Amino acid sequence: MQAIVYTQYGSPDQLRLQDVPTPTIKADELLIAVRAAGLNAADRYLLRGRPAMLRFSSGLMRPKQPIPGSDVAGEVVAVGAGVTTFRPGDTVYADLSAGGRGGLAEFVAAPANMVAPMPAGLSFVEAAAAPMAGVTALQGLRDAGQLRPGQRVLIAGASGGVGTFAVQIARALGGEVTAVVSPRNVAQAQALGAARVIDYTAQDFAADGPVYDLVVAVNGRRPINDYRRVLRPGGVYVMVGGEMGQIFQALLLGPLLSARGGGQVRAVSAKPNAADLAALGEMMAAGQVRPVVERCYPLSETAAAFHYMEQGHARGKVVITFA
Ligand SMILES: NC(=O)c1ccc[n+]([C@@H]2O[C@H](COP(=O)([O-])OP(=O)(O)OC[C@H]3O[C@@H](n4cnc5c(N)ncnc54)[C@H](OP(=O)(O)O)[C@@H]3O)[C@@H](O)[C@H]2O)c1
Repeated sequence: MQAIVYTQYGSPDQLRLQDVPTPTIKADELLIAVRAAGLNAADRYLLRGRPAMLRFSSGLMRPKQPIPGSDVAGEVVAVGAGVTTFRPGDTVYADLSAGGRGGLAEFVAAPANMVAPMPAGLSFVEAAAAPMAGVTALQGLRDAGQLRPGQRVLIAGASGGVGTFAVQIARALGGEVTAVVSPRNVAQAQALGAARVIDYTAQDFAADGPVYDLVVAVNGRRPINDYRRVLRPGGVYVMVGGEMGQIFQALLLGPLLSARGGGQVRAVSAKPNAADLAALGEMMAAGQVRPVVERCYPLSETAAAFHYMEQGHARGKVVITFA
């Protein structure tokens, strides 16, 4: 089969399209013929091997898994002896970041408990865009954020992969969304259901005062106190991502600030699983959530897709397609 391969950490330019053996499957796995593979920020970190602490799991000197890619959508072509939940011919999608990765290949072996049936009405490209970004947004809002109907939620960084899902899922959970984006993404955020949109080049959300029940930081970098300042008493700040300073502040200061009162500080580390993928799938099948796919690249142009992602201004998702 053909796959994208890298043997050392570094630039997307070293990615090669090569013939490699088709994976064999274990008893609890499926073999999926990949039709589309979504890219995530994690894929570019694993390509560069940065931040360096990632290498404790991905390989200290060189990547242990030479085929990148976690989010896939495709068709089941074989099932392991112990799999009863899927059959050849089923269309499925999955986030394989905790299941071996290897998604940028014509075939991938996937643990069955990380795979869900593809939602009705979605193309392979849309389905491949959803798993990691959608489940991260869902776990950030529903679990860490405990978002309840009628609550006001601020989403900082609402225009990229996670942010476009977060706006829609927050709406689907009954939240009233304020989205923070750059000017070119104002119309997109409104179309996704934000009740109010803040252009971060012209307005400062920190001037809103303590009006939000939940603040979700997806991108950018603001001091943690700017987020806490806009929380109502008892509100929750959830850090999903953004620049390193933002992440470390939430991880290091979060427990201390939460204990002192004036709002909880929580950090999300998304846990891919089939149940949440199915819950996301229901929202998508019901038309409450629609993946926003900005660009598609053929497998042979994966390096160009990574270069585009690395610019940091993708509007929604970037997806790799297979012939
Ligand atoms: N915690 C977890 O488990 C988990 C899981 C998945 C992802 N993440 C993290 O979540 C973050 C977002 O991931 P992603 O896939 O959504 O990334 P992405 O798609 O690459 O994000 C690109 C978007 O970020 C926006 N952006 C950049 N700087 C901004 C700023 N200062 N303020 C507001 N928006 C800004 C850009 O909009 P403009 O061009 O308009 O600025 C662009 O639309 C990353 O840090 C990623 O590592 C965490």
